[in-house]
Amino acid sequence: VAITTALTRQLAINAPILLAPMGGVSGGALAAAVTQAGGLGIIGGGYGNREWLSRELDAAGNAEIGVGFITWSLAKDPDLLSIALDRRPRVMFLSFGDLAPFAGPIARAGIPLIAQVQTVADARAAVDLGAQIVVAQGTEAGGHGATRATLPLVPAVVDAIGPVPVVAAGGIADGRGLAAALMLGAAGALCGTAFYASTESLAHPAAKRTAVAASGDHTVRGTVVDVVRGYAWPERWNIRTLENAFSRRWSGDVDGLKRDLERQSKAYAAAQEAGDMDTAAVIIGEAVDLVRASESARDIVQRMTVEAEARLRAGERLIDTKR
Ligand SMILES: Cc1cc2nc3c(=O)[nH]c(=O)nc-3n(C[C@H](O)[C@H](O)[C@H](O)COP(=O)(O)O)c2cc1C
Repeated sequence: VAITTALTRQLAINAPILLAPMGGVSGGALAAAVTQAGGLGIIGGGYGNREWLSRELDAAGNAEIGVGFITWSLAKDPDLLSIALDRRPRVMFLSFGDLAPFAGPIARAGIPLIAQVQTVADARAAVDLGAQIVVAQGTEAGGHGATRATLPLVPAVVDAIGPVPVVAAGGIADGRGLAAALMLGAAGALCGTAFYASTESLAHPAAKRTAVAASGDHTVRGTVVDVVRGYAWPERWNIRTLENAFSRRWSGDVDGLKRDLERQSKAYAAAQEAGDMDTAAVIIGEAVDLVRASESARDIVQRMTVEAEARLRAGERLIDTKR
């Protein structure tokens, strides 16, 4: 199977699927596996832990992979960008914040820049700053995001910045979603939730098991997970997770959580370590309904592309040629 788009041509890949740079979850092995399956793996540098980043870059071996950072966090430790650029990643991926300080160094290194945005205005701004590919992320996404939904956001971004390739993100976890994204004018899909429970994912085994059993009916956007972890996220973005005892206890009482922060933070960190998912968050999107097993990244990429191709062919049968 081969689906050819502006994205596959630009990146010289076989499948129009990008692994989302899930902070701490998309490590070198997962990124390499997605690349080897025909897509492009992107390591989730997240808030930027140097030791973690170096280890995961090594773990990717010779595979061509990209590196992603949370932009506002990178601004606090800009040297991290050089560590990534020194490894000559296939792409740099930036999301959540002002691209301006980083677009120049990335361009001078000759590395393509992918920017993830949540609004049409930010898509235009990213292209003006030199982004070569723009990811339009809908609110369905797991992890941080904003308010607009994928279905109307993607074609609006395509209209605003075409012919720059637009990649759809948020809620795409099978071939049906991939085919739909292509029909909206996207050149591919960026997927996080689909790979969260994969065998190569660095998510805690208990978090993977919880994700496989979970329903998209029970994800919520909120701030308590960031408050308890001590991350000062700008207000325009919050985080989608599975609802659990911790989110139910504190989402209506953020001030109470802040008053008890030291104790709660210790308990939260211990829960993360132990895989206690009643307290620690399973960071996952609405598409978690479609995650029904822990599979290899290769199987996920292959199933998505085969299924998308079948859907695209089936689409033609909807047209009544006799009329
Ligand atoms: C566990 C998890 C961690 C994430 N961490 C990051 C991150 O560090 N940086 C980032 O740009 N996006 C992050 N995202 C968002 C993804 O880039 C992407 O937009 C999202 O996964 C797409 O929606 P989906 O989850 O429905 O596939 C994360 C998503 C998840 C599920």
